[in-house]
Amino acid sequence: MGASVPVVERAAQGAKVNAVLDFLRRSPMKLLIGGEWVAAKSGKTFETINPANEEVLALVAEGDKADVDEAVKAARRAYEEGRWPILTPHQRGRFLLRLAELIDQHADELAELESLDNGKPVSQARSIDVVGAAGIFRYFAGWTSKLYGETNPSEPGMFNCTLREPVGVCGLIIPWNFPLMMAVTKLAPALACGNTVILKPAEQTPLTAIRLGELIQEAGIPAGVVNIVTGFGPGAGSSIAEHPGIDKVAFTGSTEVGKLILQASAGNLKRVSLELGGKSPNIIFPDADLATAVRSAMNGVFYNAGQVCAAGTRVFVQREIYDNFVADLTAAGERMITGDPLDPKTKLGPLVSREQFERVQGYLAAGKQEGARITLGGEAVGGKGYYIKPTIFADVNNHMKIAREEIFGPVAAAIPFKDEEDAVFQGNDSIYGLASAVWTRDIRRAHRIARALKAGTVWVNCYGTTDTAMPFGGYKQSGFGREGSRYVLDLFTQIKSVYVKL
Ligand code: NAI
Ligand code: MG
Repeated sequence: MGASVPVVERAAQGAKVNAVLDFLRRSPMKLLIGGEWVAAKSGKTFETINPANEEVLALVAEGDKADVDEAVKAARRAYEEGRWPILTPHQRGRFLLRLAELIDQHADELAELESLDNGKPVSQARSIDVVGAAGIFRYFAGWTSKLYGETNPSEPGMFNCTLREPVGVCGLIIPWNFPLMMAVTKLAPALACGNTVILKPAEQTPLTAIRLGELIQEAGIPAGVVNIVTGFGPGAGSSIAEHPGIDKVAFTGSTEVGKLILQASAGNLKRVSLELGGKSPNIIFPDADLATAVRSAMNGVFYNAGQVCAAGTRVFVQREIYDNFVADLTAAGERMITGDPLDPKTKLGPLVSREQFERVQGYLAAGKQEGARITLGGEAVGGKGYYIKPTIFADVNNHMKIAREEIFGPVAAAIPFKDEEDAVFQGNDSIYGLASAVWTRDIRRAHRIARALKAGTVWVNCYGTTDTAMPFGGYKQSGFGREGSRYVLDLFTQIKSVYVKL
């Protein structure tokens, strides 16, 4: 790995934004440590691939323990000796607003870069990921000036209060499904609260994080406040998880790696928050607006080629409408435009990597072998690129592997249910509890089910809606801690009690 020099024009075929090509020509990409762009100490690089044509987009520094050590030193210095944690709240907020502006200014560039590196449709990268990233910085810029402690009830002769302080040096380990937005989801609250950070992007999709690093410098955020170490999970990721100089790790990714992170954190008892996998139930009753439910169920499972932690992968439909609903869902899926992510009409691009492509094909084989009935897709598209056809399995029962394990591909499992009680029982019968939805016009039933489902999010008559002002996170093995909203501030701050004798 790392020997070939990528041919940018071939890898980035169809790219329209000159700035993207200029950026890719800066390959090999470096690490951002203490305000400087540096090669990995080992000198190693790895390739990041365009999943639409399997060409090498760029070479990227392969950071490991030695580089994480340097990044931790830089982050620690910026935290202990720098001004970041003690800037006035408004000053810190202004930096975040400036970053939001820079993201807006470079929106087309970032969207195209994201699309090339990840394979997601450029139109969605532009309207969801990039717009979302700027919005998240703006939302948390507002919080910098609203981080209150409390004046507490106390005995006469005492003045007791609490201070809300940053945690310190935070490691942010993120996945590849929403690379820029995941980076910002963690960076914005971490920075708003006055922490300094080491960000580790996913090895499949490091490019927008690197470009964001450049924008962070352009925004004037002091050196060492944000350090970016690209590299693999074992290596860069595990070194962050176990590092004695890191006070907190925020992780999004697989449940399997979440457990490793929790174990590794025990060494110095660092704070951990985990946003992990899901197998979310989308429950549809006959009295719902079924045309909308079909459209929404389709997007709920095929959006981002199904590479969404909250994807509505288990579509539960009440028995009397099951056959019709599956037929309508199949027809809707057939119309989904699959193809070149840079074509603005495309709704479904390739999967992110060969590894993911093969994993998902393994699940397609498992579903067939277990006797589920394919009504749509069920195979790879063929030719160049990691494309899988949108797939619907019908006649699934909740005990099949395809109903129990997170597939992370465009694969729906349609499961019949008998009544409300059965829907709730089957919906909750999962090790996961990230998200869920219920479709009904019966407001009492909607609220009953919203309470009964063991999941961090319940959508009623919609699917997949998110808002930075709402908390997001898991029940059960979908993790713990809530991102977004004021709840995330608890993850990136700690409370100090101050007693003053009067
Ligand atoms: P992963 O959990 O291995 O990767 C996520 C991040 O963790 C990446 O930055 C990776 O480099 C890092 N990482 C990996 N091993 C690590 C370790 N030992 N210590 C510290 N960091 C480590 O996910 P992967 O392998 O890319 O995908 C496997 C499955 O995980 C997917 O098929 C999907 O089911 C699930 N997944 C869930 C996501 C979510 O949003 N909840 C996102 C990505 C994957
Ligand atoms: Mg992995």
